[in-house]
Amino acid sequence: MLMSNFLKNRKSVRDFKKKKLDMRTKTEVLEIFKDLEEEADNKYFNFILFEEGEKIYKTLDGLAGYSGVMIESPYYIGVRLREVNDESIITASYYTEKLMTLLTNENLGSCWVNVKAVDRGIKAEILGEENKNIGYLVALGYPKAKNPFVQEPTSSRLGVTDIVFKDKIGNPISSQELEKRGLDDLFYYIRFAPSNYNLQPWRFILKDDKVQLLLKYSDEGKTDLMDAGIIMYYFKALGRVIGLKGGWKLLDGEDIEYGGSKYRLIGEISL
Ligand SMILES: Cc1cc2nc3c(=O)[nH]c(=O)nc-3n(C[C@H](O)[C@H](O)[C@H](O)COP(=O)(O)O)c2cc1C
Repeated sequence: MLMSNFLKNRKSVRDFKKKKLDMRTKTEVLEIFKDLEEEADNKYFNFILFEEGEKIYKTLDGLAGYSGVMIESPYYIGVRLREVNDESIITASYYTEKLMTLLTNENLGSCWVNVKAVDRGIKAEILGEENKNIGYLVALGYPKAKNPFVQEPTSSRLGVTDIVFKDKIGNPISSQELEKRGLDDLFYYIRFAPSNYNLQPWRFILKDDKVQLLLKYSDEGKTDLMDAGIIMYYFKALGRVIGLKGGWKLLDGEDIEYGGSKYRLIGEISL
């Protein structure tokens, strides 16, 4: 499927059948884990398949997810960082989103689950001592069938002009310019990427032949680099369709203040 269509239709799955994976699918899933770890040079993260979904759900319900609302699923995938630093977090989330994309080809649904606030002792007990520092799980399983006559709720999205700027943040870019540069579709579809609390903190600045990525600090003064890796993955995947060959380069820089908000510079990609 075209990445643009995929993105427009993708949605977090929060209702799963109790059904277990058949042997072939489980083997495929484990192979995808290995392939993606290898693609990232086995340096940054490991994926772990947790098969005792019910036990994990019961233990983490009330503690994990948004306001303690744990997502119930027959399996969870753990994203374990080999080292905690910016590059590892960004690379791990980049490949986790790629993993979630590949899992839909197996007709599996998934949803990110934030387990950062869960006590390490509890995580050690339920996920294993070596996994007590995991910050994110992915709920995994076969999605429950949807009623075709019921309109599913969708998460809202910002407009292209809210997230893309020219030369500096706040400076608008015209749709004609985006079209002329062949970037209109990319920025239209990329907005459907998932983000923590659906905050959509990504901001893009088009500067000459480069696009810079910034993350907006939340009202609590936080950024989550998981959101950066995810959007970098979709930018790259959509970019491939229009012939972009470059890769993301991480950048360090001063935070930028604009309109009462603060933005963190993350990286840039050549067009
Ligand atoms: C890093 C990350 C963490 C998330 N954590 C949770 C979570 O704990 N609970 C939950 O229900 N959804 C979680 N989500 C899903 C987002 O809320 C969801 O992607 C966003 O609202 C957009 O909705 P959509 O995925 O259906 O398009 C998370 C998403 C990301 C990217």
